[in-house]
Amino acid sequence: METVALSLGGSVLIKDDGPDTDYLRAVAKVLLDLSGKYKLFVVTGGGKVARNYIKAGRELGADESYLDEMGIEVTRLNARLLILALGGKAFHAPPKNYEDAMHAAATHPIVVMGGVSPGITTDAVSALLAERAKAKRLVNATSVNGAYTEDPKKSPNARLIPRMSHDELITLVSRTPSGAGPSTVFDSVGARVLARSRIVLSIVDGRDLPNLRDALEGKAFRGTQVQ
Ligand code: UTP
Repeated sequence: METVALSLGGSVLIKDDGPDTDYLRAVAKVLLDLSGKYKLFVVTGGGKVARNYIKAGRELGADESYLDEMGIEVTRLNARLLILALGGKAFHAPPKNYEDAMHAAATHPIVVMGGVSPGITTDAVSALLAERAKAKRLVNATSVNGAYTEDPKKSPNARLIPRMSHDELITLVSRTPSGAGPSTVFDSVGARVLARSRIVLSIVDGRDLPNLRDALEGKAFRGTQVQ
């Protein structure tokens, strides 16, 4: 059975006022459909809820790694919601490290986890998990429909890049701001992990479920392919 990893951005799981249960049910249905064909490893992000906690913690004087720990807790809460939506097909709790994720995969077709350690984001976690699980590909489901030359929310000149190399992705994401709660199309640590293990990355709009499904299955999709 082929193994596929998915980084499910918090920005697609969380609406303005909190977790989007309709979306969670809908994405769970896609994953359940695919779980007969693929071993699935999913990593959930923290989204706006994580950013709100990080902002509040910063105001109250927390250091950056403490803020990262708070972000990790939120990513794990989101993982628990997706686990609930997946019923018994997913391991019952988010594993706290890669080793435990592999153990969980021995008994369940789907494993869902959140963050692991300070200083990275769940994109890097998904890349490391994909590496450990020997995944064929990693799909990054996010709030934009691919990687752009510039931030499409800020610049009207931003152009979608349909295909790029791992080295080009590393260059693109190296302009990341530091501190807890950054937001780029992919984490720079994750980009380096994918490059060293030559794992194909597909960046897609996580809200477009038929397209997300195509990307998970390795079919043609709209977005960015990194290889
Ligand atoms: P996310 O992975 O959601 O980060 O983790 P992000 O890039 O800010 O989110 P999106 O993709 O733009 O929505 C939330 C925060 O949790 C901490 C980091 O502070 C991160 O910004 N975190 C997460 C870690 O420190 N380590 C982890 O392994 C995961």
